[in-house]
Amino acid sequence: MSYDYDITVLGGGPGGYVAAIRAAQEGKKVCLVERSAVGGVCLNEGCIPTKTLIKTAGMYQGILHSMDFGIEGIDAAKAKVSMPKLQKRKQAVVNQLVGGVRGLLKANGVTLVEASASFVDRQTVLAGDKKITSEYFIVATGSKVFVPPFIGLDGKNNILTSKEALLLEDLPKTTAVIGGGVIGIEFAYFLNAIGGKVVVFELMDNILPMVDEEVSALVRRRLEKEGITFHTGASVKRVKDNKVFYEHKGAENSVSVDAVLMAVGRVPNTDGLEAEKIGVNFNKSAIAVDEVLRTNIENIYAIGDVNGKVMLAHTASHEGIAAVENICGKSVHIDYGKIPSCIYTEPEIACIGLTEKQAREKYANVKIGKFPMVANGKSLSAGDTDGMVKVIVDGELGEILGVHMYGNHVTEMISEISLGMTLEATIDEVIATIHPHPTVSEAIPEAFMAAYGRAIHFK
Ligand code: NAI
Repeated sequence: MSYDYDITVLGGGPGGYVAAIRAAQEGKKVCLVERSAVGGVCLNEGCIPTKTLIKTAGMYQGILHSMDFGIEGIDAAKAKVSMPKLQKRKQAVVNQLVGGVRGLLKANGVTLVEASASFVDRQTVLAGDKKITSEYFIVATGSKVFVPPFIGLDGKNNILTSKEALLLEDLPKTTAVIGGGVIGIEFAYFLNAIGGKVVVFELMDNILPMVDEEVSALVRRRLEKEGITFHTGASVKRVKDNKVFYEHKGAENSVSVDAVLMAVGRVPNTDGLEAEKIGVNFNKSAIAVDEVLRTNIENIYAIGDVNGKVMLAHTASHEGIAAVENICGKSVHIDYGKIPSCIYTEPEIACIGLTEKQAREKYANVKIGKFPMVANGKSLSAGDTDGMVKVIVDGELGEILGVHMYGNHVTEMISEISLGMTLEATIDEVIATIHPHPTVSEAIPEAFMAAYGRAIHFK
């Protein structure tokens, strides 16, 4: 039986386009079907555009505080963020990256079909009006914003999702952010930092429930100091005419705002794919896969947000590479306990592995080490000493169980821990690794030494 392609990838986000390139490197004849722009949510309306906005927010804040750094002659009162100009810069960054991905696909000989794909049978998809047959398929169709059925919408509301919030040409005076997860906190930081008033509603008792409680409490304290209001343990029930009604300790309260940002999660996107029609198994709304990322249908794999495992761009890319290598005969398994997670506020948040609470539930002998950024020379000279490095280790074997950091540059620093965990480094090996001075990264071995009660620069 001959097919048009060896491997056809459906969806061109950071999962799909990476899989397509890796498959081409293996000498496969590859097709990538994408109905919108290559790069997916990450490049077009997620990771990259948000970081562009957050860069401006940080620079604006720097200007407002320039006097603290001995800079004279700047009339901070006159400084303001031009949303249209910011949008233009953001779009230029996105366009450059999207163009870059298109170039990479072409250079690798991947055929790009710009259409919406739906399965006809297990070896065929319809892409627009074109039938494509393939020996293997990798589904990488991503996720979409979760619109919660439990939040009633009534009257005239200015509801934004992360997609619309990225396109704002005017800054709303007041914004209610529903959901204190990653998207909610990044946007809350941005809107507040450029001059908006923000109130965040979070169902759980802590914001950023995936981050160690002690670290997320530091984030909250800092953001409160900067002017954001938080209602935690607060369940938003409905929004009517831009008035947010929420329940807190059994009582109903409300807050009126100019805009409401919905950030209560994302769900796998299989719209129009007709995967169920050909017998693909689902796990709720996600495509179910085994440990080698294969669905119940032997020649169909699913990677990235659509398989509902870990909704992060870098996970999708890794899964894309793993799926291709598994198709090529390897048996690559992803260790989902060693995936770093980064949240971009200023300062930044980065974590990997277990929180202290999770570790104590699983291990009998847990050691904790903490090193505050106020004791780190580089942080002090940068004028930002909020935050800490918190390490969670197995007291018996010295295994790194989790690291949670809040501070400048920590999203760059977490890769050291990822590498350490991949190499199964012990706490002693991290301590024995010479870190350059002065850097924020010196806080890492200090935190591990603190787990032994022997940090040098903090008592
Ligand atoms: P999320 O699942 O991280 O957070 C949603 C939050 O909404 C939860 O904390 C939940 O308790 C809360 N919530 C739910 N219902 C509520 C209600 N009725 N009232 C108040 N609070 C309520 O989802 P989010 O932030 O929308 O992110 C979606 C996905 O995108 C996540 O998987 C995230 O990891 C990923 N993402 C990652 C980024 C990064 O790594 N920097 C950036 C943006 C998104």
